[in-house]
Amino acid sequence: MRFVSAGASSVGAVASSGISHKLEAMTDSHDHTSVPAEDDIDRYDPQARQWLAGAIRAVKSDANRSSDTHLLHVPLPSDWGIDLYLKDESSHPTGSLKHRLARSLFLHALCNGWIRPGRPVVEASSGSTAVSEAYFAQLIGVPFIAVMARSTSAQKISLIEFYGGTCHFVDNANEVYEVAADLAAESGGHYMDQFTYAERATDWRGNNNIAESIFDQMSSETHPEPSWIIATAGTGGTSATLARYVRYTGRATGICVADPDNSAFFAGWRDHDPAATTDQGSRIEGIGRQRVEASFIASSIDRMMHVPDAAAIASIQLLETLMGRRAGASTGTGLWAAFRIVSQMKAAGQTGSLVSLICDPGERYLDKYYSAQWLTEAAIDTTGYRERLDEFMTTGVLK
Ligand SMILES: Cc1ncc(COP(=O)(O)O)c(C=O)c1O
Repeated sequence: MRFVSAGASSVGAVASSGISHKLEAMTDSHDHTSVPAEDDIDRYDPQARQWLAGAIRAVKSDANRSSDTHLLHVPLPSDWGIDLYLKDESSHPTGSLKHRLARSLFLHALCNGWIRPGRPVVEASSGSTAVSEAYFAQLIGVPFIAVMARSTSAQKISLIEFYGGTCHFVDNANEVYEVAADLAAESGGHYMDQFTYAERATDWRGNNNIAESIFDQMSSETHPEPSWIIATAGTGGTSATLARYVRYTGRATGICVADPDNSAFFAGWRDHDPAATTDQGSRIEGIGRQRVEASFIASSIDRMMHVPDAAAIASIQLLETLMGRRAGASTGTGLWAAFRIVSQMKAAGQTGSLVSLICDPGERYLDKYYSAQWLTEAAIDTTGYRERLDEFMTTGVLK
């Protein structure tokens, strides 16, 4: 006969992300060095398993109903012989590349037994992940709490609330991790912890991950194997998936991470120093962290480029002129790096292709990167970078 245990210790296990055995060992006065003969502890919970099956089905059905995101061709002069593509991750149901991550994190946490019915999922986020996680929490019927910096864009906050989530603000962005962990512990919920788990929750070998999708979509292009794929890093999960996939499938493609001002990733990678930090937060929402996050797999990255915030914003201004689309500034960070590589390839007489990402839509940042007043207050002047980009579009040289 099965003994079903649904006591407080299992709730504690959820809050502590799978360290239940250690906790029980610490609080239990039994002698754990000896196990009585034929001892048999059965924690199988048929109700929990039934709920889990429904939750997994709901998350998988969302993927089943979704189509692939587009790979857009950026109109550069054709005589350059260099094709630049943008994987449009803003077309996911929740509007950003974080839709993929949130789906993977939910499946990973559900299958690990970390998410329980009625217990909140708590996340530390700069906004985009929280929007997508709020959507999946609503889909499986659990509460969701986002812990974010007070400076998070108003559009993202209202989207989280639209999907039934609650926002908890902190003044200092560095506090998000600890506050999220505390809130999860207090509420008996689960701290999703994207910064730790992003790299391992996603199946980097395939399963229609972002890398596999890019290579499928590139297969009929003039240069099907990109010389470079340019990503940006928030958790580092996207770049880790791309980098592992190209190695696993034997491709020659290099993975470049473009990093904004005030981010620790660049120095951490350059100096092989996982303890690198910065004393100011990034102004580019979604990317650039003050510490090198655990999901950033530095050894898998081939190249890093520091991109000034003003250059990133100038690049999304050019994107609008070129393609009639608005994107967030993380997209601009990758785009500036891509333009620089195009210019270098052209100078070296190389032809080929490059892929970067549209991470989320510009409509989320109308009061930020698309606001003249915000730019002035932030002392960000894009004029010089715009001039350099205009020259690039006519000469192919980005100085
Ligand atoms: C808008 C945006 N762009 C890019 C990224 C970077 O993605 P990753 O977390 O996979 O490094 C994020 C992550 O939060 C993001 O929100």
